[in-house]
Amino acid sequence: MTQTFGNTDLVTSPIIYGCMGGAGAFGPQEERDSVEALQEAFNVGINFFDTAELYGNGYSEQLLGRALGDKRSEMVISSKVGRANMKPDDLVAACERSLKNIGTDYIDLYMLHWPNWNVPFADSIGALKKLKDDGKIRWYGVSNFGTRDLDEALSLGEISVNQLPYHLFARAIEFEVQPKCEAAGVPIMCYSSLMQGLLAGKYRSLQDFPVDRARTRVFDSRKWPEAAHGKDGAEETGQRLLDTLWRLVEETGLSMEELAIGWLKTRPAVGGVIVGTRNGEQSRRLKTTLEVKLEAPVLQALTEASDPLKAELGTDIDMWGKGRTR
Ligand SMILES: NC(=O)c1ccc[n+]([C@@H]2O[C@H](COP(=O)([O-])OP(=O)(O)OC[C@H]3O[C@@H](n4cnc5c(N)ncnc54)[C@H](OP(=O)(O)O)[C@@H]3O)[C@@H](O)[C@H]2O)c1
Repeated sequence: MTQTFGNTDLVTSPIIYGCMGGAGAFGPQEERDSVEALQEAFNVGINFFDTAELYGNGYSEQLLGRALGDKRSEMVISSKVGRANMKPDDLVAACERSLKNIGTDYIDLYMLHWPNWNVPFADSIGALKKLKDDGKIRWYGVSNFGTRDLDEALSLGEISVNQLPYHLFARAIEFEVQPKCEAAGVPIMCYSSLMQGLLAGKYRSLQDFPVDRARTRVFDSRKWPEAAHGKDGAEETGQRLLDTLWRLVEETGLSMEELAIGWLKTRPAVGGVIVGTRNGEQSRRLKTTLEVKLEAPVLQALTEASDPLKAELGTDIDMWGKGRTR
């Protein structure tokens, strides 16, 4: 099951495998589990893999190359250059390192990971164009770009993607960025699609969520030490959404991943849904999410259930409320 990604010639699965967790972003991680998670994701039909130089300082890219290097011609790989490397020479050097880490001659889709307002976008995008002309990357784009940054980037070059936080607990992009992406023909790669595990059907209560993951604007800064946004959060509303999701799991017989991902797949401008797993078993469970198609009443119930949280959290697209987007 594949589709063409936006205006590119990349033929991609609707689910994109996210390689961040394999580098230990969610706690201790055995390498053999990460390798199996990657291989099983490929085996169930995922051909699109998303990584970044920042994930384990190159380790995630190396792991991807080691686990699936022999499948390179059948894969689409995206990677991202970190905010510290946005000056042209640094950006080109970072891309060369990423190529070496993955063990490949080209990256299919290369993104600016977060905006860096201290380096003119024209400089960074100029470097991306050069990498494309040199055949080192096939397409390029951005990640975490709000409307103001995206407008500027679009005025400078062909932006083939905007990778953004988007899921039932984080719909801030819907106010402005998503409509802009849709109008400009820029596909969205949704990240944290399972809200770092909350939408994987393991937690009945927000209070049970691991403390090191309770960092987004949903969680009250006064109660959760890792929630650095300094605000009250929206836990009551978030809990009501979680309760409704559990009810829909029971009523539909679908898993929570199927509901969360099935909903995202239908949203405007979505070009792919990134999901991270920690082992082969979790990756095998992604098979049904590739195919899942939700009925209209279920889609409507999901939208309506998450509308109050969307309204309460407002328009800030930085899921962690750290002021890194505009
Ligand atoms: N551009 C950016 O700034 C940015 C930022 C964040 C993420 N991303 C991308 O998005 C990807 C995914 O986002 P994410 O890493 O935030 O997390 P996510 O995909 O929302 O959630 C991943 C977690 O969900 C749980 N999970 C997944 N499948 C499961 C299953 N079948 N059963 C039970 N639990 C399951 C696992 O939790 P456990 O660990 O508890 O097992 C896993 O660690 C990243 O790898 C990265 O590629 C991009």
